[in-house]
Amino acid sequence: GGIDVLVFGSAIIDFVCYTPRLPKAGETLHGHNFQTGYGGKGANQCVAAARLGSKAALVAKLGDDSFGADYLRQLRAEGINVQHVDQLSGQTTGVAQIAVSDGGENNIIIVVGANNSLSADDATRAQPLLAQAKVLVCQLETPLAATLAALRLCKGTSIVNAAPALEQTPPELLQLASILCVNESEAALMTGVAEISSVCEAKTAVSRLIELGANTVIITLGKLGAVCATRKSPTLCEHVPAPVVDKVVDTTGAGDAFIGALAHNLARFPEHALTAHIAAACAVASKSVQLPGTQASFPYA
Ligand code: RIB
Ligand code: NA
Repeated sequence: GGIDVLVFGSAIIDFVCYTPRLPKAGETLHGHNFQTGYGGKGANQCVAAARLGSKAALVAKLGDDSFGADYLRQLRAEGINVQHVDQLSGQTTGVAQIAVSDGGENNIIIVVGANNSLSADDATRAQPLLAQAKVLVCQLETPLAATLAALRLCKGTSIVNAAPALEQTPPELLQLASILCVNESEAALMTGVAEISSVCEAKTAVSRLIELGANTVIITLGKLGAVCATRKSPTLCEHVPAPVVDKVVDTTGAGDAFIGALAHNLARFPEHALTAHIAAACAVASKSVQLPGTQASFPYA
């Protein structure tokens, strides 16, 4: 058979410091643990889908350093089609510096390196995969022009995870995506509101994103689950609660676990309702927050 989930986007090595709390500006803190991991929103989403049983492929750029070589080996070990994952000479693999507090909060700085070289030509080269993939997934850690090119060549369902979010999202990005999926802070930035902290505020942001050109919108809300609506019935915004979690250990990549699971479910169970896909994705994301690490915490089917 063909490809279920094709991810066009980023691959980044994560450097994670676990610390009692997040540092303030200018502050030095003693952390208590350090770990490197495989990350980047694109690769995370691809691994999440593959672990659930999707036939997954990744289009991404790595550096020709040891991080890049390690990452390529890791993706192969996950059973991912890496025909279009390139190691670029003279470039460095993307890195992320991540702080995770005991409360499970994080902040992240990314230096994307080779990811910046993903281009519209790469979308053209991957056209045979784009034409057969049931679901395409893109993010915003790689150049926008390349993402738009991939979306234009997509024949299946496309998910745009507009992360990290832009203050001015090009309308074309929203229009090309079958589904726009963002978290509460990304939705706030995109719609110009200060904060989204309730289901009600999230529903308002969903309709605003539809007005801005999006077709189907999902806003993830952490422990509150997610809300969604479609352009056809924008006023029918539904809330899908998330399972209750005893102890949150590390939320890094939980959004990616959600999107990978969403893509997997859309590809494999196209007959199910969107709210059922979202509930399944919330369950996968809830599992991931109970274990440390990004991909390291993603569940298997
Ligand atoms: O979404 C989590 C990811 O964001 C991390 O793996 C990090 O690499 C950044 O891209
Ligand atoms: Na985790």
